[in-house]
Amino acid sequence: MILVTAATGNVGRELVPQLVHAGQPVRAGTRHPEQLTLDGAEAVRFDFGDEASVRAALQGVRAVYLVVPETIEMEQVGRSLDLMREAGVQQVVLQSGFGAEQGDNPLGEAEDVVRDSGLSWTILRPNWFMQNYNQMFQKGIRERHEFAEPAGEHPTSFIDTRDIAAAAVTVLTQPGHDGEVYPLTGPQSIDRHAVAAALSEALGHSITYRPVDDDGFVEFMTSTGESDEEEARAIAAIYPPIRAGETASLTPDVRRLTGREGHTIGDFARHYRSDWER
Ligand SMILES: NC(=O)c1ccc[n+]([C@@H]2O[C@H](COP(=O)([O-])OP(=O)(O)OC[C@H]3O[C@@H](n4cnc5c(N)ncnc54)[C@H](OP(=O)(O)O)[C@@H]3O)[C@@H](O)[C@H]2O)c1
Repeated sequence: MILVTAATGNVGRELVPQLVHAGQPVRAGTRHPEQLTLDGAEAVRFDFGDEASVRAALQGVRAVYLVVPETIEMEQVGRSLDLMREAGVQQVVLQSGFGAEQGDNPLGEAEDVVRDSGLSWTILRPNWFMQNYNQMFQKGIRERHEFAEPAGEHPTSFIDTRDIAAAAVTVLTQPGHDGEVYPLTGPQSIDRHAVAAALSEALGHSITYRPVDDDGFVEFMTSTGESDEEEARAIAAIYPPIRAGETASLTPDVRRLTGREGHTIGDFARHYRSDWER
């Protein structure tokens, strides 16, 4: 049995069906299992803040795909790893982030906790998700035909979360990945004007990227109703690595783990087109 945490999240919602398709028994962890309808997987309550739910979700589990939501304290992550060890879990795959090893990064801390857990571990470090554009920028793109970010003209090798999930399937089901760290990127390094161009082409009308400073970003996110001010400021605070050119490089790890190239931004925009249509 494989437990996928944050099964309703950007990667989890792709990973659960891919594991089911690969013939694996899957348990999908969410704080609201009653709201989750799944084909071939079992929805289970999993809340880092509720130890009993973690303990119950881990019964009979061989491997865990671990996502650390931004609101979670590192102590809770450490405690969950203790419970995994006690429950006889053999493998943990941590979803970290590109460049997590640099600076003062909470995901770097999560990596340390996982490395020290005594469990067999693998770390995935995905770059910025393409799916941010049909999640946190969805309303701006749909209603105003624009999105705004404090990212200037700096390129990012965005990754489609379907490719992160595919890489995770390999790591969770094939031997040879213990103690490995995989930085995962898409196949292209592009600036946000190129993202807007791909969205424009898929939607058949013009979508514009507006480079802004942090205040402009907060104004954009709060006025579209996607975030409150506190959340928007917290998101703005994760852009400096983009402006420092640290999210631009390409890695071969998606191809190495999945046997194929990752999706392009054009593939992404075409696939999710209905998310931005009225
Ligand atoms: N977005 C990106 O571009 C990006 C890039 C690289 C790395 N990351 C990292 O990926 C992780 C996920 O980020 P995301 O923005 O994509 O979010 P996400 O996975 O789409 O959403 C957050 C998920 O966390 C779950 N969750 C929230 N509180 C929880 C709790 N107390 N206990 C258990 N589960 C809880 C939610 O599930 P329920 O509400 O169903 O419980 C939801 O599925 C973060 O560590 C982030 O830093 C993100």
